[in-house]
Amino acid sequence: MMGEQLRKHGVARLVGADIIPEAKEATERDRPMVYDAYYVADFCNLTEEQREDLQEWSVNCLTTVAALGFGDIPAKAFIEAFNILQSKGWIAFNMKETFLDKSDETGFSVAIRELIFSEYLDVYYLERYQHRLSMEGLPLYYFAIAGRKNADIPDDFLTKIGLA
Ligand SMILES: C[S@@+](CC[C@H](N)C(=O)[O-])C[C@H]1O[C@@H](n2cnc3c(N)ncnc32)[C@H](O)[C@@H]1O
Repeated sequence: MMGEQLRKHGVARLVGADIIPEAKEATERDRPMVYDAYYVADFCNLTEEQREDLQEWSVNCLTTVAALGFGDIPAKAFIEAFNILQSKGWIAFNMKETFLDKSDETGFSVAIRELIFSEYLDVYYLERYQHRLSMEGLPLYYFAIAGRKNADIPDDFLTKIGLA
């Protein structure tokens, strides 16, 4: 669905990725022609060949939707994808508002704030919006974040922020 929207905005080349083959099968079944390539790969354990293959696309924009937090995409996988992105490439993602709330001092929230406001990323855009309604009909707020990569995130960053 995300790929389809990006195509409508004129994105010329789209590369998707997920750890499970069902994700690739679903895009091929429901939205064939949207992606130029779709990788089934574990971004926490990419082989050298997979990494080189992905780097050859010279990716200049990276996006995920509601994938950070809740144990969906591990921070390590996100950082691997971030490092495959070209220098000065754009990154756009969203996350639940509490992750940016200073009163939330859980390990994940503290770490993700460290990452977002680190020297590796320049934040250009930050907006709080209603993402959806909960099962009880209450509004759930997220932040939309967009920025530009400054530099690769070093290997020891996860250890430093307590996520490894
Ligand atoms: C909330 S869904 C987001 C789906 C959609 N592909 C997106 O990015 O907008 C999170 C997805 O991350 C995938 N995922 C989890 N761990 C991963 C890993 N180590 N490498 C690649 N994908 C992973 C899951 O299979 C799941 O489909």
